[in-house]
Amino acid sequence: MTETFWDRAPRPLLGLAPMDGVTDHACRHVQKKFGRPAVVYTEFVAVERLDIGDAGMMKDFLYDESQRPIIAQIYGHTPDRFRRMAVMLCELGFDGIDINMGCPAASIVHRGSGAGLIRSPSLAQEIVKATQAGVAAWQQGATLRDDADAPAHLVAQVEARRRALPAAFQARRPIPVSVKTRIGYDAPQVQEWVPRLLESEPSAIAIHGRTLAQGYRGAASWDEIGAAAHVARQSKTLILGNGDVLSHQEALQRTLHYGLDGVLIGRGSNGNPFIFQPDTPDRSHLQDRYLHLRIALEQARVHEAWISKQNPYRFLSMRKHLGWYARAVPGASTLRRALVETSNAGEVERVLERYFAHRHAWEIAREKSVSTDSTDFTDKNLN
Ligand SMILES: Cc1cc2nc3c(=O)[nH]c(=O)nc-3n(C[C@H](O)[C@H](O)[C@H](O)COP(=O)(O)O)c2cc1C
Repeated sequence: MTETFWDRAPRPLLGLAPMDGVTDHACRHVQKKFGRPAVVYTEFVAVERLDIGDAGMMKDFLYDESQRPIIAQIYGHTPDRFRRMAVMLCELGFDGIDINMGCPAASIVHRGSGAGLIRSPSLAQEIVKATQAGVAAWQQGATLRDDADAPAHLVAQVEARRRALPAAFQARRPIPVSVKTRIGYDAPQVQEWVPRLLESEPSAIAIHGRTLAQGYRGAASWDEIGAAAHVARQSKTLILGNGDVLSHQEALQRTLHYGLDGVLIGRGSNGNPFIFQPDTPDRSHLQDRYLHLRIALEQARVHEAWISKQNPYRFLSMRKHLGWYARAVPGASTLRRALVETSNAGEVERVLERYFAHRHAWEIAREKSVSTDSTDFTDKNLN
């Protein structure tokens, strides 16, 4: 098997977990710049959107070169649609394709997609194989244009994106197919579920330590994740654990203790890209907290430039990030109230300018009051 980014990634492999409504292009851009996670995923996209010719999907598949290796995540329940979507994703230059078999949303599970696939292991296998077949067809020269059912406007957009890619990413190279799933449906069932997945030879399985029935309640079971790693030990498939990791150190400990290749971090990265690095700035230092606000502004600017410029309503999805970045700064609640009412990057900048001016004045006043109030303290400082 040819080497891919999964083989070349550092170990332990710490990646940014896909989060719908969170890990958009702007979020991934700053997470990658400041935290350098080994892999990032797009938000999940329904495979049906290719048939509908939904051009909005192209926003979900937006990325820049700094985000590589970047994995496109898709979901659905019809193998043939996965095969066709795989061709499109290869043309768009993605480094990997991931199949969502973990989403617990009732509307998705009822149709047999997302975590619903845990109940249909044969269909899950067919889907992985169909996606791999799409990649293989593309490697041998297939294009989206060959797909008679692909809407012409979408074909044109995909071709334009492909032409703008660096030559190395236009080249027909192997694109690994991976799966992201949960430990079970109603109850943990890794001993039955993981071997079925392994039969279809995905390059990696990221496994969230909760069942579908749990949703996001309770704690992730890392013992079950460890059991999945044990089951996969003889295979070439990488196993990444996922669920409730809140620090870099915890990610390393989990990887080592449970015999994993790495960990995906979702909510722990919200407003905190440094979680992927050993030298996580200590938020008890004021300077580091201010750094998070500068990152917030940078993300708002990328968001406006690429996502919300033509449609300011879309800036709403940026507001929760602003709240996360502003956590724990002095005067956080007032600042957050102001930030969550912003509608573009200019407004964010003005709120932050006011905040910094206020903090600066406050700090100067404090210094003055210290030096005039206590000669004793000043004397000590001079020594
Ligand atoms: C808001 C939100 C959106 C999510 N969207 C996706 C998604 O699109 N695809 C996916 O595979 N998982 C999705 N997840 C699940 C996460 O990738 C991850 O498995 C889960 O949050 C547990 O990891 P964490 O405790 O590190 O956040 C989502 C989770 C959250 C909180």
